[in-house]
Amino acid sequence: MHISVLLEECINYLNLRDDSIIVDCTLGYGGHSSEILKRIKNGYLYSFDQDLEAIESSRKRLSSIGDNYEIIYSNFVNLYEEMKKRGTKIDGILYDLGVSSPQLDEDERGFSFHNDARLDMRMDKNNKLSAYEVVNNYTKEELTSILYKYGEEKFAPSIASKIVSYRANKKIETTLELVEIIKSAVPEKYRRDKHPARKTFQAIRIEVNKELDVFESSLRQALDLIDVNGRICVITFHSLEDKICKNIFKEVSSVDETLKRMPIIPENMLPKFKVIANISPSDKEVESNMRSRSARLRVIERIR
Ligand SMILES: C[S@@+](CC[C@H](N)C(=O)[O-])C[C@H]1O[C@@H](n2cnc3c(N)ncnc32)[C@H](O)[C@@H]1O
Repeated sequence: MHISVLLEECINYLNLRDDSIIVDCTLGYGGHSSEILKRIKNGYLYSFDQDLEAIESSRKRLSSIGDNYEIIYSNFVNLYEEMKKRGTKIDGILYDLGVSSPQLDEDERGFSFHNDARLDMRMDKNNKLSAYEVVNNYTKEELTSILYKYGEEKFAPSIASKIVSYRANKKIETTLELVEIIKSAVPEKYRRDKHPARKTFQAIRIEVNKELDVFESSLRQALDLIDVNGRICVITFHSLEDKICKNIFKEVSSVDETLKRMPIIPENMLPKFKVIANISPSDKEVESNMRSRSARLRVIERIR
């Protein structure tokens, strides 16, 4: 089961009205989408996901609430194109990034370092690139680079070397095979702290799904699409995603340095956005849902 993170906070910050038009970029198992739909009886909800299993399960959930919604099976990197086709105003956009609990729990998806499965990690099963190709075909330098960049893994060179020497004899087929290789590449002490494969798995998942690039591109599209008084809520689960969101929000909500010296800043040069919130889940939420412990919600509003 997937427990939605920061659900109440998102619903409050979206400022929903009965006739709001909302885009949920990450439908997942419909936790946020269904609470939104309940509150916009005369509005409309567009929900994106790139995972057909999540879509099928959420369709039933949303249909039991209303029919004023459309599920768009697409990567949210296509947000602008898809929404321009529909030609509607947009009052709110939500991102609840990362993978859902069912995606993590289903062994065959290969996301988890706890269960044995074929190396996969694709959110969209129609994608060509999977974890298998990354682990077996990337050069040592490429592996080191993604482990540093997307996993902030300090043992990146050593893990990359072990992967390359192991696969010289045999392809790396499964998640637990990879876990054993990682364990053999890091010091004993590191193995006792958090799970030693956590950062490597995060890095490979980000690479497979191009998570940071698509998020950055999509968030910029969202800023172009949102109407005046509309809000964008973003829930991130690690510092790399959060940094992208923080920097973009700062960029679009700040007055340009060169304009600060002017006695009066012309209205059309003032920032179009205002940062509304930057919060973490309450202690109570973290206690009841461990997955929320690294979550952060940032909210921005279009003010002109
Ligand atoms: C954390 S879950 C969302 C959970 C949902 N808010 C809920 O409460 O049930 C993230 C979902 O977003 C989807 N997703 C992640 N990145 C995506 C992308 N670039 N395009 C479309 N869907 C994406 C995943 O497939 C997953 O189903």
